[in-house]
Amino acid sequence: MEDTIRFFIDGVQVTAAAGQTVMKAADAAGIYIPRLCDTEGLKPQGSCRVCVVKMNGRTVASCTQPALADAVVESETDEIRNYRRDLVRMLFHEGNHLCPICEASGRCELQAMGYRLGITQATKYPYLQPVRPVDASHPDIVLDTNRCILCGRCIRASRDVDGKNVFEYVGRGIHKKVGVNGANLADTDASIDDKAININTCPVGCIIQKGRGFFAPIGKREFDQHPIGHQISRRRKETP
Ligand code: FES
Repeated sequence: MEDTIRFFIDGVQVTAAAGQTVMKAADAAGIYIPRLCDTEGLKPQGSCRVCVVKMNGRTVASCTQPALADAVVESETDEIRNYRRDLVRMLFHEGNHLCPICEASGRCELQAMGYRLGITQATKYPYLQPVRPVDASHPDIVLDTNRCILCGRCIRASRDVDGKNVFEYVGRGIHKKVGVNGANLADTDASIDDKAININTCPVGCIIQKGRGFFAPIGKREFDQHPIGHQISRRRKETP
């Protein structure tokens, strides 16, 4: 097997190491592919499907799909953008995402993805309006699964980085949610210093650090300044 291969994303030639995923190769080339369940430092899970692309005509999740030699990948087409919009709309409808009163507003990846994809209102599907108890039992952390998008980032961070298994999925279908390894969060080993609790791990406002709500003023929040994905697309612009 060759050490490196080349393939094409929206007509741009990209190089990948053998076995490297389409998303990782795209990131290195400064081509941003939208994503929600994947984030730096965690194993890809391939569950949200927002990173969907077409590879040689087949729809695949770019965060788990290894790049193939000479493959033709389509990402920023109308068809793919519409898939992503529908996926993100469904997430808004499934939970209670009340951006104006959420501590994560302005740094929330779901909100930022909605803006990036041009979703100005999410009225396509009925709102499920779940009623899930908020767990504020821990002295430093609040868990509000009404805002959860089931990305599993907290689960993987707690299991693979913190070595604690504080979080896990419970239930099935529309009853699936993130639960904790105890009667409530105070009953677990969760700590404010955990990777799972880091403000960049939860992409929405489901895991909140007490005392840090609204820590950045409007205008200075992460996505006030730049759209989501700008750190990656900036790499391409900076490449001579
Ligand atoms: Fe690839 Fe979620 S980022 S499936």
